[in-house]
Amino acid sequence: MVEPVPRAEVNASQAGPTSEAQALPHLRLGVLISGSGTNLQAIIDACESARLQAVEIALVVSNVAGAAGLQRALKHRLPAIYLPWREREEGERRLAALLELFRVDLVVLAGWMRILSADFLARFPRRVINLHPALLPDDPSADVYIASDGSAIPAFRGLHAVRQALEAGVRVTGSTVHYVTPAVDAGPVLCRAEVPIQEGDSEETLHERIKAVEHSLVIEAIERWRARELLELRRLSHSGGGPPQEG
Ligand code: GRF
Repeated sequence: MVEPVPRAEVNASQAGPTSEAQALPHLRLGVLISGSGTNLQAIIDACESARLQAVEIALVVSNVAGAAGLQRALKHRLPAIYLPWREREEGERRLAALLELFRVDLVVLAGWMRILSADFLARFPRRVINLHPALLPDDPSADVYIASDGSAIPAFRGLHAVRQALEAGVRVTGSTVHYVTPAVDAGPVLCRAEVPIQEGDSEETLHERIKAVEHSLVIEAIERWRARELLELRRLSHSGGGPPQEG
């Protein structure tokens, strides 16, 4: 049997130079990708610099063998795994085992193109967040987001959110980081940022500008999540009320 990786507690030497960092509970991330991994790169860079202190990427998982994000992870000597996803139940069973083996606290879906089931999410309650390239409202049942200029923007959910924003002719779109729930792109919002649409934007140019904003937004989301959730997660796991462990 493979021994689980020990969950790191607050560790001053890993936490960075400031006394503020020494007070931060150490956070272990699992980052799930399917593609280029520019947001993964932003997280790597923030962990390696003073931007994100006492945060460690414990594991990177890709369901696509040739995903450029896997190469980014390997270049930085991070544990990186290709997980073939032929059938959801089997894929989720293996993914959950990996996340538990590597003692991941928070799972970040950074361009992960597979829907996760309610059963999987129940094993990691409030511990999975997703980056979505559109503005989503606070109320998950709402279909409209009111932008800072007062305009009502339809909530573009699903796979083609950037294209939908262009086709709808709205003036602003953006990105949202939200908790993942069984309803697709409809979980409680952690943070979001607006991105103006420019004359002549194509899906590619607009998505590039959205990603540029996401690279900061994802860091803000990780910090917010830690401030809100990590101590409670530690308390639950110490009292034995944490998520089930693999036998
Ligand atoms: C991001 O725009 C994210 O919002 C969406 O997928 C894209 C991933 O980009 N879910 P990258 O792989 O991080 O470059």
